[in-house]
Amino acid sequence: MCGIIGYIGKQKVVPILLEGLKQLEYRGYDSAGLSVINNGKITTIKAVGKVAELQNKIGSRDFLGNIGIAHTRWATHGKPSDKNSHPHGDCEGNIFLVHNGIIENYQELKKILQKKKHKFISETDSEILAHLIEEFNKKLDFKKSVLEALKLVRGTYGLAIINKKEPEKIIIARNGSPLILGIGKDEFIVASDASAIVRHTDKIIYLDDGEIAEITSGGFEISNIKNKIVSKEISKLDWTIEESKKGGFDHFMLKEIFEQPEVIQNGLRGRIEHFLSEDNLPILGGLRPIEKKLRKIKKIIIVACGTSYYSGLVGEYMLEEYAGIPTEVEYASEFRYRKPILNDTTAIIAISQSGETADTLAAIREAKNKGALTLGIVNVVGSTIARETDAGTHTLTGPEIGVAATKSFPTQLLVLALWTMMLGRQREMSNVMSKRISEELKNIPHLIEGILKKSKEIKKIAKKYISAKDFLYVGRKYNFPIALEGALKIKEISYVHAEGYPTGEMKHGPIALIDSNFPSIFICPKDSVYEKNISGMQEIKARGGKIIAIATEGDKEILKLADDVIYIPKTLEMLTPFISVIPLQLFAYYFGVAKGYDVDKPRNLAKSVTVE
Ligand code: F6R
Repeated sequence: MCGIIGYIGKQKVVPILLEGLKQLEYRGYDSAGLSVINNGKITTIKAVGKVAELQNKIGSRDFLGNIGIAHTRWATHGKPSDKNSHPHGDCEGNIFLVHNGIIENYQELKKILQKKKHKFISETDSEILAHLIEEFNKKLDFKKSVLEALKLVRGTYGLAIINKKEPEKIIIARNGSPLILGIGKDEFIVASDASAIVRHTDKIIYLDDGEIAEITSGGFEISNIKNKIVSKEISKLDWTIEESKKGGFDHFMLKEIFEQPEVIQNGLRGRIEHFLSEDNLPILGGLRPIEKKLRKIKKIIIVACGTSYYSGLVGEYMLEEYAGIPTEVEYASEFRYRKPILNDTTAIIAISQSGETADTLAAIREAKNKGALTLGIVNVVGSTIARETDAGTHTLTGPEIGVAATKSFPTQLLVLALWTMMLGRQREMSNVMSKRISEELKNIPHLIEGILKKSKEIKKIAKKYISAKDFLYVGRKYNFPIALEGALKIKEISYVHAEGYPTGEMKHGPIALIDSNFPSIFICPKDSVYEKNISGMQEIKARGGKIIAIATEGDKEILKLADDVIYIPKTLEMLTPFISVIPLQLFAYYFGVAKGYDVDKPRNLAKSVTVE
């Protein structure tokens, strides 16, 4: 997804912008560009491909300027090309800007501007903004021109703009697309993502929607769209540079898979590790202010996308079985256009690692409009979903750099399990049951460590199946969503076809695909649906299909049916997804690496999907 970095200070700007762009690379992009002001002149350089291409284009040219903006683009309007890359300029070459988001009424605005003789170079919606500002800048100063232009715009934006006529400043603005201002010593860094700021400063300000900031080397002023100054809190960024590095692993993805025991431990700390009372209630500070409201909740709808959606599906099983609350899970992209029946006894839970996913955010806004209580299970602190929901719990996953989600998944499951305990205890769940879940949760990091030790064995199995072009992933009940997640993981990073199905559904269609070249992966721990999974396995076996089973340690029967078995330890049925997903993440990782792909940056994918 697109990334923004801007700098104003005393240092040479180009190396800082390039470094910032590199930090943003993990978000996924297809071209990059920068504009710098030097001696009242603006130089713009763009390149399709990686930031290294841009660096090559710049070559040994020495830019003396210390104000500039830069961008990584992930194409939405118009293919990846130099023309379509940011920064975009106006007719006179005075105004240059970088933009994240989408201008919905750009066609309309383009026609008006064309009548006024503006010439457009790109196919993008973003270029309109430069021309619109130019139009107002004929009479108004830079900031007022930006404000007036933004009043005409419908859509989302995170913007950083420079202007040759007022060359000592950067103006930034936000509406629906994240933007952060980093406050350093004699310097300011603007970025769409904290990872581009962390090496400069830990003092940051999160801009809110409808806010605009004027930044010079001497300071900054933030105002709202009506040009009224707003005072903002300075937050402390607690991500270290080390956290953004690979830590000795070949890929971020592998590092993040191996971090799972630790991040779950972080999520447990202070929440169930030390019970304050005999109630066996998890301590969830973010839900405390709405505890009374939660008692009245009669229905839950979980909205999310991708992997977060699958954790929501596991949550559905947990919440219905243990908290007794009717729960539905819906793709956020569908929910936002449905006419859901909501009222003040409905809670909408948004699950999102990034906290910026456009569809999930839109779903939450829709639910809020209809009077429902909105709750967030979000990783990124200060992200839009975290701020716009009425209450919530952070997953405490730390930065997830690998584009394919891994460690964010069990931490989402953990929050869902803690919420189930809390909501359950408000209703019918016994003290004993809550204690049982909490005791077993505390054991999960240790159980995952055991599975991670089998990574070599899993690598071997992945290599054995390297010629497979298709996989069927199946599971039942709590492990049906894990089948979906396993299939998604291998699709994303290995580009092979995979389907996830409930085991019972297999015979209603997908079994037609099965032959000796189409392996099936069965997630079949010894749980309440074990026998049902075994029947499914027999059906596959009878058709000559190969089987890889994720089974409970000590299950010898499985060896009669499966060609390969990866054993996982026993735990409570509702917690099996925490551990059954681990071998599937590793399997997908080793499979993708063996195929020679860049598993951290799969093609066509972006880490944070901030467009619809
Ligand atoms: C899968 C993946 C995506 C995300 C989805 C939601 O590996 O990374 O499917 O899970 O885009 O993103 P968040 O959780 O940031 O809302």
